[in-house]
Amino acid sequence: MISQEMKRELINALIDQKEIFGDELLTTFSENDYEPLYENDIQPEPAENNVNEDKINYSSSKLFAEEFENARSLDELNRMIADCTKCSLGQTRTKFVFGTGNPNAELMLIGEAPGAEEDKQGIPFVGRAGKLLNDILKAINFEREDVYIANILKCRPPNNRDPLPSERETCIPYLNKQIELINPKIILCLGRIAANALLNKNESLANLRNGDYEYKGIKLMATYHPAALLRNPHWKRGCWEDVKKVRKLYDELTA
Ligand code: URA
Repeated sequence: MISQEMKRELINALIDQKEIFGDELLTTFSENDYEPLYENDIQPEPAENNVNEDKINYSSSKLFAEEFENARSLDELNRMIADCTKCSLGQTRTKFVFGTGNPNAELMLIGEAPGAEEDKQGIPFVGRAGKLLNDILKAINFEREDVYIANILKCRPPNNRDPLPSERETCIPYLNKQIELINPKIILCLGRIAANALLNKNESLANLRNGDYEYKGIKLMATYHPAALLRNPHWKRGCWEDVKKVRKLYDELTA
């Protein structure tokens, strides 16, 4: 008989495996020689429950430039998009989580999507993972107010499930506009999902952490998601190595 505790440990081990490798569960590859099997994210779209399709505004055809693309400041952009109902998350969110921090930040942190606490407060990374993120920033001599923090998605997916490809596609243009307005020197992606979503890849976190990436001409780095560090404190050492590199590059680029 498997005890409840063993079950929990097994589930946690699978969650950790997914954090590192994505959907290729129970692979026999080591972290360093892992090759993704899929070019693109092929996560199937689950049928959404209780969603009123009539309320979803799919009208923003990519054929036309959208009004928000003309925003001249983050505040203006926020005002323009805060009532978004382009996907079903617009119906289930409590608050739209635009982003927070220094509008002229040279370092921008990008997570995956708001969680329960963020959905309540309308601010990214304010739950347990957010507190750890603040400590990580402090460890490399940043205050939260020095950097800008946003997510791939502006609205919380029900039960914190992974963002769907269609949700990413709909929401990333908002993030792109934020990046354009802030114009940071470095983007630090928190977790595999955020980095792969921006780069449109399906890489392991190991490859993302060690690779040499740019997004729209901006240096892109990746490290563990703080929620993964809460589950697995032994990954903190790797995160520490990553953020030291971020600090070093930041100092070089802003000298
Ligand atoms: N996890 C994220 O990726 N983003 C948040 O804002 C909170 C938790």
